[in-house]
Amino acid sequence: MKNERSIMKIVVIGGSGLIGSKLITKLGEQGRQAVAASPNTGVNSVTGEGLAEVLEGASVVVDVSNAPSWEDAAVMKFFETSTRNLLAYEAAAGVGHHVALSVVGTERLLESGYFRAKLAQENLIKASSIPYSIIRATQFFEFVKGIADFSTDGNRVLLSPALIQPIAADDVASAVGQVAVGSPVNGVVEVGGPEQFRLYELVQRYLAARKDPREVVADPHARYYGVELSERTLVPGDDAQLGETRFADWLSRSASQI
Ligand SMILES: NC(=O)c1ccc[n+]([C@@H]2O[C@H](COP(=O)([O-])OP(=O)(O)OC[C@H]3O[C@@H](n4cnc5c(N)ncnc54)[C@H](OP(=O)(O)O)[C@@H]3O)[C@@H](O)[C@H]2O)c1
Repeated sequence: MKNERSIMKIVVIGGSGLIGSKLITKLGEQGRQAVAASPNTGVNSVTGEGLAEVLEGASVVVDVSNAPSWEDAAVMKFFETSTRNLLAYEAAAGVGHHVALSVVGTERLLESGYFRAKLAQENLIKASSIPYSIIRATQFFEFVKGIADFSTDGNRVLLSPALIQPIAADDVASAVGQVAVGSPVNGVVEVGGPEQFRLYELVQRYLAARKDPREVVADPHARYYGVELSERTLVPGDDAQLGETRFADWLSRSASQI
C-alpha cells in the first residue's frame, strides 16, 4: 500500500495558491508524491513552459489555478488556453485522471465573464479523452472579504439577500485531495459548507468580526459580479458533500491572521 501511494505522482497546477498550497501539504502528510506547479516553479499552463517536464511520470493532474485577470476576454483566454494545453500535454504523458476545481452554480452565473470562462474550462475537460473529475465548490470563507470589497460603494456595501453556503478553503482542499487519489468520476461532485446564510448577512458578520465600519445594505437587485441572484443561485444540490468548519469558528480562528 505504501508503495502504491508513493509511486502515484500527482501534479498540482496552481500548487502555490490558496487551495493548491493546502492540497500539497495534505497530500504530503498522507505520504503521496505531490508536486506543486505554477509560474513560481517554472511551469506555465498558458505558455506551456515546463509542462512536459513536470508531467513526466504523472498519474494525476489537479488544476487549482486561477486567472491573474478577471476581465472578460483575459479570463476566457486564460482558462481556455490553459485547459487545452494541460489536456494535450496530459494525453502525451499518459496521465490517467484530470481533476479540476470549479464553482457551484456556474451555469446560473453566465452573465459574468468569469463564469463563462469556468464553464468553457469544464466543457473542454468533458470533451477530452482524459478521465476526469470536476469538483464544484461554493464560495470560500477566505473570499468573503473580496465580495465585500467588490460590492462597496463609499461606506456602503450593497448585497443581495440570496442564500449562500460558503466553505472553508481547508475543507475544499481536503475534498479535492480525496477526489484526486480516487478513481475518476467522469462527472461533477459538489462541495459546500455546513450552513446557509443570506449573502448580506454573511458579509455583515465578517465585517463586524473585523470591526470594519462599512454599512451593509440588503438589496434584492444588487449584483454579484454582474449577476442578479435568485434565492438559490449560489446554493449546491442535495447531494453536495459538506465541509465541517463553521463560519463563526473560522472567523475567530483566522482573526489573528487577517
Ligand atoms: N474563490 C472562491 O470562493 C472559489 C469558489 C469555488 C471555486 N473556486 C476556484 O478555485 C480555484 C483556485 O482558486 P484559489 O483562490 O486557490 O487561487 P489563487 O490562490 O488565486 O491561486 C492561483 C494559482 O494559479 C497559479 N497560476 C496563475 N497563472 C498560472 C499559469 N499561467 N500557469 C500555472 N499556474 C498559474 C498561481 O501561481 P503563481 O503563484 O505562481 O502565480 C497560483 O498558484 C479557481 O479555479 C477558482 O475558480 C474559487
